[in-house]
Amino acid sequence: MPCANSCRNTRIGEHTMTHADADALMDLRAKAHAAVRALRARKTELDDDSIDVILRGARNHYAFTDRPVPRALLETIYDIVAAGPTSMNSSPARFVFITSDEGRARLEPALKPPNVPKMRSAPVNVIVAHDLDFWTHLPFLFPHEDRRPQFEGKPAHIEATAFRNGTLQGAYFMIAARAVGLDVGAMSGFSNAAVDEAFFAGTSVRSNFLINLGYADETALFQKLPRFGFDEVCSFA
Ligand SMILES: Cc1cc2nc3c(=O)[nH]c(=O)nc-3n(C[C@H](O)[C@H](O)[C@H](O)COP(=O)(O)O)c2cc1C
Repeated sequence: MPCANSCRNTRIGEHTMTHADADALMDLRAKAHAAVRALRARKTELDDDSIDVILRGARNHYAFTDRPVPRALLETIYDIVAAGPTSMNSSPARFVFITSDEGRARLEPALKPPNVPKMRSAPVNVIVAHDLDFWTHLPFLFPHEDRRPQFEGKPAHIEATAFRNGTLQGAYFMIAARAVGLDVGAMSGFSNAAVDEAFFAGTSVRSNFLINLGYADETALFQKLPRFGFDEVCSFA
């Protein structure tokens, strides 16, 4: 739309841009608002059974049936995970799906012995990892402002941000997998250094934890362990 004031630029928030760009941005924002309203109109909360499936009634599993997990389901889970929030949309998590005997043989020496049969029983083992170079992708992921200077040359901040958000994405992964009907068994009983050497040597990717994925054999479960009550661990300020 031509500008009545015959100027070329306008300001939105901290940014100066052309009127055409500003119109396009306002259009994207209006679409985002409409998308949230449309979702609220469809559904505002999960029912009790759904909450049980993703967290309250779900268990961490130690044995799995032979039922395979199709690649399409892994892609569905990833799409759900990728939609979840991370700071600055940094999306540092990287996922390796181990589905071959060769892959399992590479993973096995890194595991604590009790975790080996758990890993072997699952059709898919996921390495939840994060890329310490995640911040170099911010021009794509957070395009309206160059935030790379916040990370460049700051390894402690890079590591904390990658670990925090990569862990969140790993948690989203477990919830998403349960939401699409799969069972998960998380494992941190392994050497991160050995996994990094076997899978990520010479790269900026580092392992965080593992997820055994498939359709569980629930007969391997022990009893549900206690949890803290609200008043034991929650407070108000
Ligand atoms: C990050 C993470 C790491 C875990 N590591 C192991 C592990 O190495 N070996 C194992 O047998 N279970 C492991 N677990 C399973 C926990 O012990 C289990 O989730 C906990 O006892 C609660 O069980 P529930 O989720 O079935 O109620 C891990 C769970 C998480 C979330």
